[in-house]
Amino acid sequence: MDSFGQSTHAVRAGHHQFVDDQHSEALVLTSSYAFDDALDAAEKFAERRPGNVYVRFTNPTVRAFEERIAALEGAQDAVATGSGMAAYLAVSLAVLKQGDHVLLAEGIFGTTTKLFLTYLKKFGVSTTVLPVVDNPAWLKAIRPNTRMISVETPTNPLMRVADIGFLAQLARSHDAFLLVDNTLCTPIFQRPHVLGADLVVHSAGKFTGETRLIEAVKGVLRTVGPSLSPFNAWIFLKSLETLPIRMLAHNEKAAELVAWLSERDDVDAVHFTGSPTHPQAELVAKQQTGHGGLISFEIRGGQREAWRFIDGLRLVSNTTNIGDTKSMITHPATTTHGRLPADAQLAAGITPNLVRLSVGLEDTTDLMADLHQALRVG
Ligand SMILES: Cc1ncc(COP(=O)(O)O)c(C=O)c1O
Repeated sequence: MDSFGQSTHAVRAGHHQFVDDQHSEALVLTSSYAFDDALDAAEKFAERRPGNVYVRFTNPTVRAFEERIAALEGAQDAVATGSGMAAYLAVSLAVLKQGDHVLLAEGIFGTTTKLFLTYLKKFGVSTTVLPVVDNPAWLKAIRPNTRMISVETPTNPLMRVADIGFLAQLARSHDAFLLVDNTLCTPIFQRPHVLGADLVVHSAGKFTGETRLIEAVKGVLRTVGPSLSPFNAWIFLKSLETLPIRMLAHNEKAAELVAWLSERDDVDAVHFTGSPTHPQAELVAKQQTGHGGLISFEIRGGQREAWRFIDGLRLVSNTTNIGDTKSMITHPATTTHGRLPADAQLAAGITPNLVRLSVGLEDTTDLMADLHQALRVG
């Protein structure tokens, strides 16, 4: 399958027919599996013989999803977890220990920052937060005990871009791992492993990497249990099948809205990696083949104007998810990044007038009409 394109991987990878030659992936809903005999049970428990043991760490539907996402990312293997944050926790438990140090990108999903600065700190893991665009700062901050470099690129919501190749080399030269959160671009528009990353994490609750790292994380899943349910894996499998065409459509509609918003007097700045004026356009072109549907923009005024705009929207939903087929608006300073202290928010560019729009698949003209009437309210 290695030579196939992304659309073929998206619909075929990980598909094994085992229930009456079923054409769609089977949803296997069982907690346990029967063994041939006592020796078979002992061998499978000890992982000397491949096979299913118990749903917390072995399930054919979940495995199909893992194989499909690994194929899309160009990774050796993948492991699925119950959420994106469960993936971060599982990888941290697998590769970090007391006394280790982490370099973490600034201005990323607030809960990821909270995990490192609050919870992992309790177990003796220290973290330095750095601006994602500042390569000399990363070079200066790395220490002998730095075990992991963790970035989101592009960052959410300000669309700043980390230099994956540079950070991969930096990590390698210090015997550390580079983890890249690829939620925004998805493997359709960016393949961090190909650029040198050791681990790739996604908000859909899975991550990919080299076999030895994935094996370590599977051990955590088996023992700690933040596993993905087979039913959710089946839904993800179905949704991966249309991911390539959906990403193109999200991208096209986002680009149209960005061009339109950039012309408006009531909008101060628009952030999108596909903007011709993006300050890192050269790096973007080097590592991304597209941009996806997430944009953010600054409403002229402050929080009052931003909130009035959000409350004035009639079609776009006020909710904090990203990547849905329905367009969604968020006020990051008081929601996704609300748990960050005010100075950390401002350092990361999360200003009170910033709104984040996840562009869905509605008609662009309908989205423009909705944004236009709400901007006039604000
Ligand atoms: C970029 C990014 N990474 C990770 C996460 C966490 O994923 P989850 O919500 O599945 O735990 C999110 C959540 O929105 C996210 O936006």
